[in-house]
Amino acid sequence: MAFQIPRGTQDILPGEVERWQYIENTARELCKTYQYKEIRTPIFEHTELFARGVGESTDIVQKEMYTFEDKKGRSITLRPEGTAAAVRAFVEKKLFANPQQPTKLYYIGPMFRYERPQTGRFRQFVQFGIEAMGSNDPAIDAEVISLAMALYEKLGLTKLKLIINSLGDAESRKAHRDALIAHFEPRIDEFCSDCQHRLKQNPLRILDCKKDRDHELMETAPSILDFLNEESKLYFEKVQQYLTSIGISYEVDPGLVRGLDYYNHTAFEIMSDAEGFGAITTLCGGGRYNGLAKDIGGPETPGIGFALSIERLLAALDAEGVKLPIDQHIDCYIVTMGDKAKDMSVSLLYNLRKAGLTVEKDYEDKKMKAQFKAADRLNARFVAVLGDDEIEKNIISVKNMETGTQEEVSIDELVSYLSK
Ligand code: HAM
Repeated sequence: MAFQIPRGTQDILPGEVERWQYIENTARELCKTYQYKEIRTPIFEHTELFARGVGESTDIVQKEMYTFEDKKGRSITLRPEGTAAAVRAFVEKKLFANPQQPTKLYYIGPMFRYERPQTGRFRQFVQFGIEAMGSNDPAIDAEVISLAMALYEKLGLTKLKLIINSLGDAESRKAHRDALIAHFEPRIDEFCSDCQHRLKQNPLRILDCKKDRDHELMETAPSILDFLNEESKLYFEKVQQYLTSIGISYEVDPGLVRGLDYYNHTAFEIMSDAEGFGAITTLCGGGRYNGLAKDIGGPETPGIGFALSIERLLAALDAEGVKLPIDQHIDCYIVTMGDKAKDMSVSLLYNLRKAGLTVEKDYEDKKMKAQFKAADRLNARFVAVLGDDEIEKNIISVKNMETGTQEEVSIDELVSYLSK
């Protein structure tokens, strides 16, 4: 029986992986300019971390986690997202004690959610995310949002839409929560069983329900923006002022509630506006989570971050027809004729590679014409031809594939010739 890849996962093959590497490198360089440092946390964590961190009432925790018992009976979960683990590490490794605050972290790695696979939705996907912990300055909210926008723009996306909202502080949320319960409770039996649970557990989640999204009460539901207290309102205004000051346009959408429980104050999503983009247009999501560190047993620490998947980023690039400037050349292909040349090419290649050049040769005893074809396929800048005659004269014939000119070079000087 031939095996097949599990549903909702992908093999990223050579030819495609270069785009991933290009995006990852661009993200890393960008993080450097913004001074976010990489953190690598385990692929799995104790299930309780996500239950408490992401929230019991979320779809992620209720339906989408890959949870299993290890051999000692501990409940383990493949991470469905990166924030809970970053905050866990921040608390556990006491990163808050570092004099340089806020702690600014980034990660790139696979996340796992048992969702129904479709275009742009996978069961294993790679998130690039950043988290800034320890600052309550709205300037950091603008910084986090601007880093996400900068990445997309650097990669060449232009059709982007940023939507923002404020979920307010604890007091504002409590007032909004009471209003939501009063709004939905009299007719809650018209809603799905999930929403009936959500009513008391976390009524905000009702607004995010996929099944009941067309119910008339959804549209008339009380808006969080009407319940923000003075402090929350001022905070949100300041975030908007900073976004405007750096030329980032946005839309305020009071319906943006996000699918994870840890958010308060700023919440945002970046969508693709490109024509022909699939049904799922959200490229990036994030927001503030000032209560999360405390919820998982640490000191009260404000935090904000975002995550975006490389899969959806690639889909957006395709939808906009953006080609990444990936260098597909090799420096030199060594064509050999005869056994002596074949033997000699081994050390020649070794020395060229040691000098940092990208080189290839034939390993299948191909005819000369086929070797030239291979050089072509690999986009070789130079093709160096080595035969018995050349070896005798200690030369190698080097052809510049761009100009078509050919030169004879001493074998000992090939490295320095090509390095130029
Ligand atoms: P999230 O909205 O669940 O937030 O996911 C963030 C991003 O991950 C989405 O916008 C999307 O690009 C990508 N994503 C999510 N699920 C899938 C999937 N099944 N297939 C492909 N891509 C997917 C979080 O994960 C939060 N931890 C973000 C955050 C960081 N908030 C604060 N800090």
